[in-house]
Amino acid sequence: MQQRIILVSLAAAALALGFGTASAKGNAAAGAKKAVACEACHGKDGNGTAPNYPALAGQYQDYLIEALHEYQTNGRTHPLVSGIHHRDNAIMNAMAAPLTEQDIEDITAYFSSLPSKLSDLSGKVQGSDDGLHSRG
Ligand code: HEC
Repeated sequence: MQQRIILVSLAAAALALGFGTASAKGNAAAGAKKAVACEACHGKDGNGTAPNYPALAGQYQDYLIEALHEYQTNGRTHPLVSGIHHRDNAIMNAMAAPLTEQDIEDITAYFSSLPSKLSDLSGKVQGSDDGLHSRG
């Protein structure tokens, strides 16, 4: 009995600390409003209005957060990790610059919650058999 109580309280403590749960950050509803600034290029559905605008819909939130942090540092490399080049894109450096941490968490929560059209690379890699067939 005693053991059982200890186990239950350990489980409760673990839950309270967020162990074992996917830690979603931000507020997607707030992000939807803030994402209006992004839709001209990334699309209302988050899938990009043209092939040069990457799809954000359904992307891992952590990945989107990391990308925005990298644009915010304008491609500066970490002083201790030379040779690793971070993202540096004139458009996105400017778009990411004014965002607060809260903005980033909200916006990425929103885009990652949208249905993804991401698929595998079948038919999209130049020279692959799939590509030849699907292009006709
Ligand atoms: C004027 C067009 C434009 C606007 C507006 C824009 N983006 Fe982008 N975004 C781009 C382009 C172009 C890239 C690809 C840049 C590169 O090659 O690194 C990109 C890349 C990204 C990426 C990296 C995606 C990946 O898979 O690598 C993220 C995340 C992103 N944008 C988020 C945003 C957010 C959030 C906003 C609004 C605050 C926004 N963008 C507004 C054009 C735009």
